[in-house]
Amino acid sequence: MNVGIIGAGHIAGKIARTLEYTDGIDCQAVGSRSAEKAAAFASEFRIPRAYGSYSELLDDPDVDLVYVATPHSHHFDVTMEAIGKGKACLVEKAFMANAAQTRAVLEKARERHVFVAEALWTRYQPARDIINRLISYGRIGSVRQISATLSYSIENKPRVMLPELCGGALLDLGIYPLNFVRMVRDNPIEKIESNCILSDTGVDISESVSLTLKGGIIANIQSSACCAGFNTATVAGTEGCLVVDNVNNPQRIRIYAKGGIFKEEIRVPDSISGYEYEFLACRDAIEKGLVEAPEMPHSETLFLMELMDSLRKKWGVRYPMD
Ligand SMILES: NC(=O)c1ccc[n+]([C@@H]2O[C@H](COP(=O)([O-])OP(=O)(O)OC[C@H]3O[C@@H](n4cnc5c(N)ncnc54)[C@H](OP(=O)(O)O)[C@@H]3O)[C@@H](O)[C@H]2O)c1
Repeated sequence: MNVGIIGAGHIAGKIARTLEYTDGIDCQAVGSRSAEKAAAFASEFRIPRAYGSYSELLDDPDVDLVYVATPHSHHFDVTMEAIGKGKACLVEKAFMANAAQTRAVLEKARERHVFVAEALWTRYQPARDIINRLISYGRIGSVRQISATLSYSIENKPRVMLPELCGGALLDLGIYPLNFVRMVRDNPIEKIESNCILSDTGVDISESVSLTLKGGIIANIQSSACCAGFNTATVAGTEGCLVVDNVNNPQRIRIYAKGGIFKEEIRVPDSISGYEYEFLACRDAIEKGLVEAPEMPHSETLFLMELMDSLRKKWGVRYPMD
């Protein structure tokens, strides 16, 4: 499968490096708003073709999968254009600015029978399956409580601070702990309570969200773009708990019995960077003729986007495209 990268920024570099080592998947092209930037990126990551516009990349007949790595505010236009040109897309999280854009993109993908998926990488990683198996084997009993935090000190990034770039901790970071909860238990939400601190620029800089899930489960998540957090997740059950070392790329899962007695540590399999799994999943889905990735179905992408819309509405965080 040949990948074309849209937007030669931070995460695009990590993906390009990962694909250099991923068997059977090649990065063949990069598209940037600047031809010079595209050429420098292509030379750094040994990518054969560099384009000075996104549209040119979308016209490249040898690109099978377009990876969209622009700020959230700029996912919509390029993804719609790509789908219109019949190009399969893997779009960085948060998928779009809001649920309305998400619905439009997913509808168009289904209409044209073009594959599109959200690059929420933890959905595709092996840790997800390991955690869910441990729970289903009864290692912690019945799940009653889930907590997860993701906080980085990234106030220096315009992408995170500006409403016009769809900034805020929720779309950038909070989506990971929310998604963690959904991967462990996707029971219907009965009640949501939340707190948020707004930045001077009018985006959510720190937040906490408490979800009451059907079946007697409380899930608490926190995210912040202005502090360096200890970004773990805990799933507590009637017989013990499970601690995941990193919500945004789990490496170790520890199991404790009642009374905090340590039982076992499971390490996830070695990987290139952990980003390869989402590309391998896209390749499998495209080969099967699917329009969505089973690991991150369209319904789940829309669910998270609607949930984040409702939280932003409560907090008064508005984007120009809302
Ligand atoms: N999965 C992960 O672990 C992870 C980690 C970080 C970020 N992300 C996601 O990846 C996306 C990009 O994040 P990033 O940290 O890579 O951002 P970044 O370093 O700022 O790069 C974004 C790129 O988008 C392009 N772009 C197009 N319009 C832009 C505009 N108006 N302002 C700024 N850049 C614009 C630019 O590329 P050109 O100038 O080349 O066109 C820019 O280099 C976001 O959706 C973010 O949530 C995911």
